[in-house]
Amino acid sequence: MRMYDIITKKKNGQELTAEEIGFFVKGYTEGEIPDYQASALLMAIAIKGMNREETAALTVAVANSGEKADLSKIEGLKADKHSTGGVGDKTTLIAVPIAAACGLKVPKMSGRGLGHTGGTVDKLEAIKGYRTEVAAEEFIRIVNRIGCGIIGQSGNLAPADKKLYALRDVTATVDCLPLIVASIMGKKLAVGADCIVLDVKMGSGAFCKTRQETESLASAMVEVGRLAGKRITALITDMDTPLGYAIGNSLEVIEAVDTLRGKGPEDLTKISLTIAAEMLYLADKGNYDQCKKAAEKALSSGEAYQKLVQMVAAFGGSTEELYDTTKFPQAKYTFEVQSPKTGYVAHTNTERLGVASLLLGAGRVKKDDIIDYSAGITLYKKTGDEVKEGELLALLHCSKESLIVPAQEEFLGAYAINEAPPPQRDLIYNRVSTKSLSEMF
Ligand code: URA
Repeated sequence: MRMYDIITKKKNGQELTAEEIGFFVKGYTEGEIPDYQASALLMAIAIKGMNREETAALTVAVANSGEKADLSKIEGLKADKHSTGGVGDKTTLIAVPIAAACGLKVPKMSGRGLGHTGGTVDKLEAIKGYRTEVAAEEFIRIVNRIGCGIIGQSGNLAPADKKLYALRDVTATVDCLPLIVASIMGKKLAVGADCIVLDVKMGSGAFCKTRQETESLASAMVEVGRLAGKRITALITDMDTPLGYAIGNSLEVIEAVDTLRGKGPEDLTKISLTIAAEMLYLADKGNYDQCKKAAEKALSSGEAYQKLVQMVAAFGGSTEELYDTTKFPQAKYTFEVQSPKTGYVAHTNTERLGVASLLLGAGRVKKDDIIDYSAGITLYKKTGDEVKEGELLALLHCSKESLIVPAQEEFLGAYAINEAPPPQRDLIYNRVSTKSLSEMF
């Protein structure tokens, strides 16, 4: 079998066999297929697509590309969550400790920033000393002891996704439905939790911009999960405006900590609680109403915040900054962006806000770029807010003065300010699940 022929076949819009997909995934993971050929195939897939069978074969190949976590040493049902990616999306850092504080075991493998979106692993690495790569045995020991653990795609779990993810990030092949399904579900199947909650983002800051695309992605992932015998729910949530007010790694950890201390923004708190409640519900921790109340109590009592602190300590991270978030390293420069006119924020192109943050140093433009954890954006006005000319829209944080002008241009290009307020958008649009909510009524 030759990689050249596989690329040609997909370029011509033909269906790939499971053997051809397996050949590509194995060869690329083992370093036999070079980046340039893998990039060409990814682009052909992004343009020509993949059908259900090809998507399933790619998912299985990714899941089987390394070891599988042996979760049998963790008692009871295990739950996991994953977001399809957004701007300012720090829900993992909140929902996972909430669920663990309610007695659920949550072994979670997260990703790095992808395209214009942030990644949980980069956020965790903003915490001094946090080890996002640990051996499977240690990971399991921590989950057993603390209740939760969040790591990156460490060496041997779904290594194919680790490599493909980094390549997609820099080859404009992120917003491709079959590649997203295989990436997310490949990791989920390699980790092997019983209950999975997917936060499928929709809107200008997500990879899926329209309702139709988002519903297709949600259904495709729930179907793969169902076939693999998982309890799985996809929540379709809004990403037309950033979640919360912080974009960028340390800034987002600080906002997550504030939220766990009961002082978080309303949208972020609500989505995080909903994800945690859904994880509890899938794991039979009560009817939906009881699960929602348990999640709220774990948050308001501070138990979820303590759970985050324990988890960070278990992975070697410094907890000092979690007790006093002013101790997080600050960016050398902060720059105020003012509103050019009076009116209402009618819309933000949230992908551009993610790009603005990336330009400030919070993400990668090239595969090996080093992240500036203190870089990012603090928003002061979001969609629907009234604003006066000259009023503060945001603060840009970065460590090199030359980054400010391009980031400011990108940022301002994202804001539409009109005379009339925009119609209100929902925060949660839909729920696609293998477990119905009928017992609530
Ligand atoms: N998150 C992932 O893990 N993979 C994707 O492709 C998109 C979001």
